Amino acid sequence: MDRNLAIELVRVTEYAALAAAKHIGRGDEKSADQAAVDAMRSSLNAMTIDGTVVIGEGERDEAPMLYIGEKVGQGGPKVDIALDPLEGTTITAKGGENAMAVIALAQDGGFLNAPDVYMEKISSSVPKKLNIISIQQDLKSNIKELAKFKKINIEDIIICVLDRDRHQQIIEDIRSLGSRIKMIGDGDVSAVISSVLPNNNIDMYYGIGGAPEGVLAAAALQCIGGFMEGKLLFRNDDEKARATKVNITDFNKIYSLEELAQGDVMFSATGVTDGTMLPGVKTNKFMGETHSIVMRSKTGTVRHIVGNHNFNIKKLEY
Ligand code: FBP
Repeated sequence: MDRNLAIELVRVTEYAALAAAKHIGRGDEKSADQAAVDAMRSSLNAMTIDGTVVIGEGERDEAPMLYIGEKVGQGGPKVDIALDPLEGTTITAKGGENAMAVIALAQDGGFLNAPDVYMEKISSSVPKKLNIISIQQDLKSNIKELAKFKKINIEDIIICVLDRDRHQQIIEDIRSLGSRIKMIGDGDVSAVISSVLPNNNIDMYYGIGGAPEGVLAAAALQCIGGFMEGKLLFRNDDEKARATKVNITDFNKIYSLEELAQGDVMFSATGVTDGTMLPGVKTNKFMGETHSIVMRSKTGTVRHIVGNHNFNIKKLEY
């Protein structure tokens, strides 16, 4: 893929973030999401790609736009697209932390076509070859091995966990070892990435979140390195049927990072609200400031881009 596509991608997430930011704290998740979807779709359609959405807003009947299978772009190289125009709709509606606009591109077939079910995820900055942590290993052993590898006390290990009732046992296990928890209300794409990037005070991410978000996070890790595994979780036959539709037949498979996202991958995220990884959108009457991170797997380049969008001179319209 042409490396300039990565820079083009920043526009896509910037535009979605600016649109969603207008809805911060308004208590209306749907409008915030819709604004981000509309903006992301129009900017994606301006790109010179022959894109297919493989991780999107849902299946065609439930998502009128950016649905799985939707074709986007003006024509050009064939790419698969994983996107979440607003990762953290509740966060945005409540004016909380860590909402982002997120997108990733891969060459044809580069992403696991994950159905919209749950995924057990584990990630950390440890080298994958050393088999230090794994979904197959129990959580307490993972924490002990991680502390040993990092040469730090178990008490100093910080694990990021989504604040959900289903994680009660996980929370008890972590605390019984004396380790610490960074509990988040939503937004595990940024949590997984933050568990790998330095200086974020997260040693490991663990727990159950969305499978599409798992693929998006894996796309970022494919660019920056780190360890991740994911296991799809099915609550009923309908969810299994959705998986079968996208050719998933082994319902117990543990996916490695490379099986979630592989090959030539590009990733871009722009902060909507302030978060661990990215500051959110700041606006006044004249300007909107955005903070984005854009990465390429081919070179491992990570760029932090600050955009100053002048509302008066040049409107962001496509
Ligand atoms: P939305 O973008 O749909 O608001 O998802 C936010 C999120 O917190 C994800 O980051 C996470 O993977 C998933 O929801 C967890 O699902 P649930 O809220 O059902 O526990």
